[in-house]
Amino acid sequence: MNHTRILGIGAYRASRVVPNSEIVERIDSSDEWVQQRSGIRERRWATEDETVRSMGLAASRQALERAGVDARQIDCVIVATVSHFMQTPAVATLIAHDLGADQPAAFDISAACAGFSHGIALASDLVRGGSARHVLVVGVERLSEITDPDDRGSAFIFADGAGAAVVGPSETPGIGPVVWGSDGEQYDLIRQREDWREVIVAEQPRMPHLTMQGAAVFRWASFTMAKVGLQALDRFGIGPDDLDCFVPHQANMRITDAMARAMKLPETVRVARDIATQGNTSAASIPLALDRMYLDGEARSGDRALLIAFGAGLAYAAQVVVLP
Ligand code: UT7
Repeated sequence: MNHTRILGIGAYRASRVVPNSEIVERIDSSDEWVQQRSGIRERRWATEDETVRSMGLAASRQALERAGVDARQIDCVIVATVSHFMQTPAVATLIAHDLGADQPAAFDISAACAGFSHGIALASDLVRGGSARHVLVVGVERLSEITDPDDRGSAFIFADGAGAAVVGPSETPGIGPVVWGSDGEQYDLIRQREDWREVIVAEQPRMPHLTMQGAAVFRWASFTMAKVGLQALDRFGIGPDDLDCFVPHQANMRITDAMARAMKLPETVRVARDIATQGNTSAASIPLALDRMYLDGEARSGDRALLIAFGAGLAYAAQVVVLP
């Protein structure tokens, strides 16, 4: 079998529902402004016991169950995250162990909001190349911990949760060629404000918060990513009219709409809008958004979905997948 596909998708939403009203006063904003500029009504934040490890595990268990794959059949676990604060070893090793997997290869990747699509691309190539038969890809974040509650430009955006997918062999193409890249010249547009050393020597040590030049990221994402999306369609051999679902990284509802317009997606394409009640969960946002589409009856097995992930780095990755 020369092809690959996603066999199952799992999700875990952090349990605390945080409405805009809980955030806006501190940043001199309003519920109306946040909804209008970002599309976010409320977001999910983790409680003390909802860790990157526990949320990643819960999403993974669901993905395996839905895929009908036993943990012992997993040869490789890839976790995309920027909020696992133990720099080494990788949280992927813990999740693999917690699942009862048979000591698979396990490593974390750092591609920020583009992490899940990077993971799917790697998994697909590992299976096609014969290095693994089943790969578990996890996107998980606990961004509430590294969000500055006083930063007007980001306090209302970031959120917590996990999503996972099992990738395995297929007789027909189920994961298209990835279109990906990065632009290190724009490294400063979204980043951790301080590195760990700077945090430790600071007079008042605190978690290294995320910082973002929102408007510049907004422009880049809205226009450059639409071209990347069209290339991903082209590399799968389809056009916008052949697409069933559009599942971009849930960064901002206006970016999603701008991309859909720029790609001239027909109205028949169902568009992921999970950000409204989940917020922006970086590496977890695409699988969470897919899960929501299934729950709402907007995604069905066999649908062709365009995934586009983008964020800090500025890193991006897009591919067409056939939904399990
Ligand atoms: O996931 C990683 C990738 N991240 C993204 O893709 C995020 C991309 N960026 C965005 O989502 C948007 O840039 C934001 C939602 C963060 C901000 O929306 P915007 O439409 O780009 O706002 P802006 O920064 O251009 O600011 C517009 C105005 C300014 O006022 P003036 O200069 O027009 O008078 C800001 O001072 O809105 C003001 N403003 C606010 N007002 C109320 C900025 N932040 C706020 C706020 N509440 N929180």
